Amino acid sequence: DAAGKSGYDHYMRKEIAEQPRAIRDCLRGRVTELEGTVSLPELEGLETPSSVQFVACGTSYHAGLFGERLLRRRGIHAQTFVASEYDAAEVPIDDGTLVVGITQSGETADTMRALRGAGRAGATTLALTNVVASSAARECDRVLYIRAGPEISVAATKSFASQQVTLSLLANALADTTSRAHLRELRRLPEYVQSVLDDTGTREVAEALADADAYFFIGRGDNAPVALEGALKLKEISYEHAEGFPAGELKHGPLALVTPNTPVFAIVSGRSKTAETIGNVNEVRARGAPVVAVTDDPESVAPHTEYVLEIPETRPSVVPIVANVQLQLVAYWLANALDRPIDRPRNLAKSVTVL
Ligand code: AGP
Repeated sequence: DAAGKSGYDHYMRKEIAEQPRAIRDCLRGRVTELEGTVSLPELEGLETPSSVQFVACGTSYHAGLFGERLLRRRGIHAQTFVASEYDAAEVPIDDGTLVVGITQSGETADTMRALRGAGRAGATTLALTNVVASSAARECDRVLYIRAGPEISVAATKSFASQQVTLSLLANALADTTSRAHLRELRRLPEYVQSVLDDTGTREVAEALADADAYFFIGRGDNAPVALEGALKLKEISYEHAEGFPAGELKHGPLALVTPNTPVFAIVSGRSKTAETIGNVNEVRARGAPVVAVTDDPESVAPHTEYVLEIPETRPSVVPIVANVQLQLVAYWLANALDRPIDRPRNLAKSVTVL
């Protein structure tokens, strides 16, 4: 068991540390940076879809929210559905619709039901999964493996990064043109993630804030899904109340809950919407809440916050992958400070095979 954890106290910590390797594996043989091309033989012969629908649960759903933006930016209509709500959404499907099930395990019952329904309605189905020969891999028309390697901890960490990278490749592959700059930054991603892993600031921040009443996470645009994911990870393993939302939503309700004992984690990326997000940070600080910024622009952000967790500068569409690693570490160290079991949180299963 100790050998399985490679010297770490928990699988989750080990899997967080494995992300540079997981990302490299995900990219291997799939990107030719020089020519600016993505090669995904798994998609050979697939016509550009008229629309893409992502169906997924939990962390995989957050990956979908990340992926849909990449596709829309490239002119492809895309939307993400919580898999258990997909039937009720009664979303139109035709033979140009591609329904992508994002599922680490490939066994999640809600996601499988949505995929089967979409297939019956005439959509082409694609499994974006980690587990070879899983139900999703076997039943979908096509399969794209995320290549994260086995994930033991109930909390999804490296599989989320690998899903984000695979979705970045998918977006480039489905669009008419690929972005050479985007591909270059994807290739540098393992290095960026490693620099976050080498920076040990998260433990100190988490321990300083471990006694709070609740935790909030805010982010805008590309970083809004990371705010949701940061909150999910924290609540799942620490058993503390945590909520994430797009930064602009604060003033529409959640602000009523903000007190000096509710830390706010804000993803403030230097190149997009910094001023607005800083405005939101100032709103919560005026109510006494300590703010932790995850930012690539510490110089301008630090004067507005109590703590800064720095990330390297990269393209806006790559920032969410790197920023999320800081929040994984915060969740881990906070749960550790509270002496939670971490790898096997109460009431949860790694793979939810019931509806
Ligand atoms: C993530 O930390 C959770 N354990 C959970 O939300 C998970 O992502 C969800 O159950 C979906 O699982 P899947 O990716 O295997 O389908």
